[in-house]
Parts: sequence; structure tokens; C-alpha cells
Amino acid sequence: MARTVIAGNWKMHGLKADLEVVQAVADGVAGTPDGLEVLLCLPATLVVSGAELASGTKLEIGGQSCHQAGRGPHTGDISAEMLADAGASHVIVGHSERRADHGESDAQAAAQAEAAIAAGLIPIICVGETLAERDSGQALEVVTKQVAGSVPEAGAETPVIVAYEPVWAIGTGRTPTPEQIAEVHAAIRAALAERFPATGSQIPLLYGGSMKPGNAAEILAVGDVNGGLIGGASLKAEDFLAIYAAAANQLS
Ligand code: PGA
Repeated sequence: MARTVIAGNWKMHGLKADLEVVQAVADGVAGTPDGLEVLLCLPATLVVSGAELASGTKLEIGGQSCHQAGRGPHTGDISAEMLADAGASHVIVGHSERRADHGESDAQAAAQAEAAIAAGLIPIICVGETLAERDSGQALEVVTKQVAGSVPEAGAETPVIVAYEPVWAIGTGRTPTPEQIAEVHAAIRAALAERFPATGSQIPLLYGGSMKPGNAAEILAVGDVNGGLIGGASLKAEDFLAIYAAAANQLS
């Protein structure tokens, strides 16, 4: 059985003043039950101070992307080791916004996930179809191909997380039906279980895309959904903590 993970993704939001949200979340998750992991993936500029605030609490801090190389001439990039050194425990790779804005491929996501694992971070590997792909009946094919290409072999032995985020649901207020989510998560689970017979069933599968307090309980109850990757609703402590509470309730 996979553990449950509630992860916030602040994207390109957050100034020093917003560390009060990190503090409020850290305070709010003090009673986190076993089997629930809760984290905020902050912009790189806030990782050090966020990790200091979260230190000694149940809240963990993640980055949002890392370069696949360990170091070198890559102006503006950040390595997995730098994130780990700054206090991060997780990093998102292959987010659809990275794929769209920076042309990142499945192979790059896999290489970044490998770099993350080598640095001791848990990669959160994102996949998801566009609206055109869903409308033309290709959602399952697209997503399983992304999983095959973006999850590295090292996923067999080390903790990795996979997030299904339909591109058309991100930041739009639209969400797939529970049946649509169940169908995709079952396909991802089957692909991972086949590829990694010993560990595939333990890889947390998160849903992401317009998850909010009002729909979290319903989405988290869907089969093979082991948590959420939350963008907009993670910017407000009250909303993020309400989603966290929905996950904690389902575990108790
Ligand atoms: P959203 O973003 O919750 O704002 O839709 C989710 C994500 O992109 O991780």
C-alpha cells in the first residue's frame, strides 16, 4: 500500500513575507498521522528559509525543478545537490509548465529524477495529457508513455512519487470526473506494477489540477489516488490545511 502525500506547488509565487504561510502550515500539521507526508514545494529563493522554519516539524520542503547535471556551466539552473543542501527533501520534475515553457522531455524528466535520487531527494514526477489529447481519446496512451519515459529505472529501489496532472485541469478550475481520474490512475498503477514488480504498488500516485478544499475529499477517495499535488490552493494556509485535513481524515 502506498503512503499518502499532500504536496503544495507554489510555482512562481512567494516572497519572504509569504513565509508566514509556511509557518502556519508547519504549525497546522503538528498532528500528522503515520503514513501521511506533507510538503510545500517552494520557489528556489525560499527553500533555505522555508526549510529552517519547517525544521523539527512534520512539514517538509521541496524544490520545483532541478538540472540533470550535478554541476557545471548552466546559468540560471539549480542542481539537485543544491536543493538538498538548502534543506529540501523532494523536488518536482517534468511538470507540464516546465515541459511547455522550457521544452523539457520525458528523457530530461527521467534524468532529473535520477539526479534527484542521487542527491538523496524524492522526485515527484509529473505526467498528464492535454485537452486535445483527451478529446481525441489518447489520454491513457499519452500518460502511460510519459510514465514509461519519465520514471527512471532507479524507481525500482528508491522512493519516487508520480503525479497525474491533466494539463487542462491545471489552474483552470476544471477537474476530471472521479471515473476519469480512477481510469488513469489504474493505468499508471498497472504500468508501474508491471515494470517494478516488487515496489510498483508502493509508489504514491498523486492527482493534481484544480484540487481545492471543496473537491479534495472526493478526489482523495478515488481508487489508486494516494494524495494530491496542489498549486493555487497551496498558497493559502487555510485552503492547504483543509486539503491536508481531508487526507488525514481518510487515514484515521
Ligand atoms: P493547480 O496546479 O492546483 O493550481 O491547478 C496544480 C499543479 O500544477 O501542480
